[in-house]
Amino acid sequence: MTTVAVRASGVAAGYHGVPAVSDIDLEVRQGEVVALLGANGAGKTTVIRALSGTLPLLRGTVAVSGKTNPGPLFRRVRNGLGVLTEKRCVFMSLTCEENLRLGRGSVKEALSFFPELESKLRLKAGLASGGEQQMLALARILAAKPEVLLADELSLGLAPLIVRRLLEAITEAAKQGAAVLIVEQHSRLALRAADRGYVLRRGRIELSGTAEELRSREQDLAALYL
Ligand SMILES: Nc1ncnc2c1ncn2[C@@H]1O[C@H](COP(=O)(O)OP(=O)(O)O)[C@@H](O)[C@H]1O
Ligand SMILES: [Mg+2]
Repeated sequence: MTTVAVRASGVAAGYHGVPAVSDIDLEVRQGEVVALLGANGAGKTTVIRALSGTLPLLRGTVAVSGKTNPGPLFRRVRNGLGVLTEKRCVFMSLTCEENLRLGRGSVKEALSFFPELESKLRLKAGLASGGEQQMLALARILAAKPEVLLADELSLGLAPLIVRRLLEAITEAAKQGAAVLIVEQHSRLALRAADRGYVLRRGRIELSGTAEELRSREQDLAALYL
């Protein structure tokens, strides 16, 4: 039995007291990659924010690493939570190496996930390509060996080759024991890397299952995107 690292039960969350997502029941176990899928506006970011604790819950409970009342974000990060938001989490005026040093893991560990960053260490992050910036942000988080990783739109606007590299690194982190939830618009790519998935539609989970099950229901999946 593997440990459940993230569990949401009956969660509703939203803005100005109005739920954007409701009745969210999901879990991510240690060593698992889970994809959160759905069209634009379905509520994926809202779910990630409810799980990371940056948006108050209107209903339900969230437990991350067994803790339901996790305190401020810096403490949650210290306790093993890694969060990658939709915005690129990179300090543009610092070099790539300085960005990695800001993380909680070593530069060497970060480079073990993305050896291609080694030749960019002295480059200002703002001058790196979009793909390199995203690798940098992910490398910094993975170097700290997070117990839980929540990653929102990892691959937004990036070339397929880069997307594959990012997903490889995520898979490797899960192999090393992390519980990973990735939000992805490209369901096919996500379901190739993930073990399981949940599909959101208009703020509710409409479909869930193993990646294989979801891949075999491509038409149902496509319908949920309409
Ligand atoms: N800051 C906000 N204030 C008000 N409504 C928001 C805010 N952010 C998102 N929403 C609304 O919540 C719903 C879900 O959005 P979001 O979680 O960002 O979807 P997704 O990440 O799947 O594209 C949408 O209807 C969106 O318009
Ligand atoms: Mg979003």
